[in-house]
Amino acid sequence: MFFILILIAVFVVYVWQKKSIGTYEYFEKGQQLEHFNGLTFSGSDACIPCHEDIYKQHITSAHFLTSTLPSDNTLKGIHQAISDGFKIGKHHSYAIDKKWNGFFQILKNDSLNEIIRQDKIDIVIGSGVKGQSFFSWENDKLFQLQTSYFVPSKKWINSPGYKEELAAKLRPISVSCLECHATFAQTTPHKQTKYEFNKVKNKFNKKSIIWGVDCERCHGPAAKHVAYQNKFPKDTIGKHIVKQNQLSRQQKMDMCALCHSGSHRKKTNKEFHFVLGDTLDNFVYKDFKSYYKSKYKAAADVHGNQVELLEASKCFEKTATMDCTTCHDAHAKERGNLASFNAKCINCHKGQDISCGLPATSTAHNTNNCVDCHMPLSKSNAMKIQDNDSLVQVEVRSHLIKIYEPTTDKLNKYINNL
Ligand code: HEC
Ligand code: HEC
Ligand code: HEC
Ligand code: HEC
Ligand code: HEC
Ligand code: HEC
Ligand code: HEC
Repeated sequence: MFFILILIAVFVVYVWQKKSIGTYEYFEKGQQLEHFNGLTFSGSDACIPCHEDIYKQHITSAHFLTSTLPSDNTLKGIHQAISDGFKIGKHHSYAIDKKWNGFFQILKNDSLNEIIRQDKIDIVIGSGVKGQSFFSWENDKLFQLQTSYFVPSKKWINSPGYKEELAAKLRPISVSCLECHATFAQTTPHKQTKYEFNKVKNKFNKKSIIWGVDCERCHGPAAKHVAYQNKFPKDTIGKHIVKQNQLSRQQKMDMCALCHSGSHRKKTNKEFHFVLGDTLDNFVYKDFKSYYKSKYKAAADVHGNQVELLEASKCFEKTATMDCTTCHDAHAKERGNLASFNAKCINCHKGQDISCGLPATSTAHNTNNCVDCHMPLSKSNAMKIQDNDSLVQVEVRSHLIKIYEPTTDKLNKYINNL
């Protein structure tokens, strides 16, 4: 009897803990969730039996991990925050507390040694390449917490949009962050008077949220494909799924452009309506002449705007087929594997007599890193912080592939390595 009671108690605590950590709150496999176009989502678990290799790669990617539930693994600055905390303004400090039911940002008044507020970290935004931000629920309303983690300087900072001093209120988060950092989310219907819209634009139907940029964000809702292939397992032709080889270059580019055009796109808050096969100019953006704000393509900031920069490059202009997947495998974690990117350049430029101003040795072009000179790391104007006296900027690869003036250092480095 005593044992049974203990078992029940353990079970209750287990369920309670799972619930408070949030796993049950969002979209679950088997649930009917309809896209605006009438198709239904199945969740990426349903792809495993037939596309296991892709699935296994994909779950390690920055896309899949770009919005997650908090854990010791997903929270990058967690140990530092638990041990040291971090100052906010002159008299306050934040620290992270790990409790049995989750992670909390705790705000303290240092001089009075008093806890002022504690907010649960419900969602982590960012896989942790450059930074992470944190969202918290108040019932079905979503807010951003005051502090974010900035990876280049390994520091906790004021979230972009928050002032340096202590914020009186948390910042409401509309659907726009999720449009690029999640697979799907529906806001709760509300009356559209201007006053009310502003008041409740951060209200969500939690069961409609699929976190991470998952399979169905790029390939479209796939429940029909899953049902068909399960019913006819011998059919080796994929049905009810958009075929890559039937897409134009523009359609392929637009799938990535939806999220990789930086701040140069026109925001519509209808980005979740877009699915693979649509073109931005005549779908979501049909009311606009162009979906870019600026005519000056190459002047685009390097942060998050790979599309415009690539489109301004000769490699793109002078070929009919180059798109993002010429160099990137959309399913894989490839960061840091410059040798593989190098091989992509050589694929097209092999046999060509290019000296790059380097000494003529036959091996020069196989051993040199094309990317370092022709897609240099550039400082982002969008992701930067003032750290005491110095400005720390995130460095991103410029997707404007061209001839840059090489520094003597860089040339010498390569020449010495030959
Ligand atoms: C019961 C088996 C099965 C399941 C489950 C399944 N697929 Fe497929 N899928 C196939 C087969 C068979 C093909 C055709 C062969 C191929 O391209 O691999 C295919 C092809 C595809 C293609 C290629 C389309 C093209 O360009 O030709 C995509 C994309 C795809 N599936 C996505 C998904 C996603 C996303 C899921 C999960 C939501 C999923 N599939 C679940 C069997 C399945
Ligand atoms: C729904 C929005 C969305 C779409 C669609 C999308 N991306 Fe991304 N992508 C992101 C976000 C957000 C990140 C940053 C992820 C992070 O680190 O948290 C990212 C990161 C990346 C990275 C960097 C990966 C790394 O390891 O740091 C590459 C490369 C990339 N995307 C390529 C593509 C390509 C190619 C396509 C089109 C096939 C595409 N993306 C479509 C949102 C998107
Ligand atoms: C137009 C699409 C888009 C919108 C809207 C957007 N992001 Fe991003 N975000 C991206 C992309 C793409 C990246 C990766 C940038 C890169 O590597 O160039 C990124 C990067 C990030 C990162 C760093 C991730 C990492 O792992 O390094 C954080 C944190 C982040 N975004 C938070 C937010 C928040 C919070 C909002 C809403 C206020 C938001 N983003 C809105 C597309 C978007
Ligand atoms: C960031 C966007 C993105 C995400 C997320 C994504 N894919 Fe893809 N997928 C693509 C693109 C782009 C192609 C075309 C690749 C090419 O032409 O090189 C593709 C091709 C495919 C193909 C057919 C070609 C092949 O490699 O066999 C299948 C099957 C597929 N994806 C399944 C999936 C599954 C399953 C998931 C989730 C586990 C997933 N994809 C997640 C963008 C994505
Ligand atoms: C799909 C094929 C293709 C790929 C892949 C490719 N290029 Fe190119 N690239 C071209 C073409 C075509 C031109 C134009 C040549 C011309 O004008 O004669 C070009 C031009 C260039 C130029 C001269 C640009 C200028 O403004 O004068 C450089 C530098 C260059 N590529 C470097 C690279 C590097 C580095 C990579 C890999 C990161 C790469 N390319 C990948 C096809 C490609
Ligand atoms: C150390 C820096 C550096 C490296 C590494 C490098 N390049 Fe270059 N590249 C240059 C410079 C500088 C020029 C301009 C040379 C000139 O004007 O004589 C150039 C010119 C070019 C051109 C256009 C000129 C032509 O002759 O057609 C192409 C294409 C090119 N590089 C491709 C590549 C590829 C592919 C790789 C890798 C195999 C590579 N480069 C590696 C610095 C570099
Ligand atoms: C000619 C090859 C090439 C093409 C085409 C290309 N990329 Fe990249 N991309 C790279 C290289 C090289 C890197 C640096 C990878 C690294 O640092 O590990 C990169 C990095 C990225 C990153 C991470 C940004 C950063 O600097 O941290 C994103 C996001 C990305 N690419 C998106 C795209 C998108 C979207 C497209 C299509 C518009 C695209 N790329 C087309 C070669 C390419």
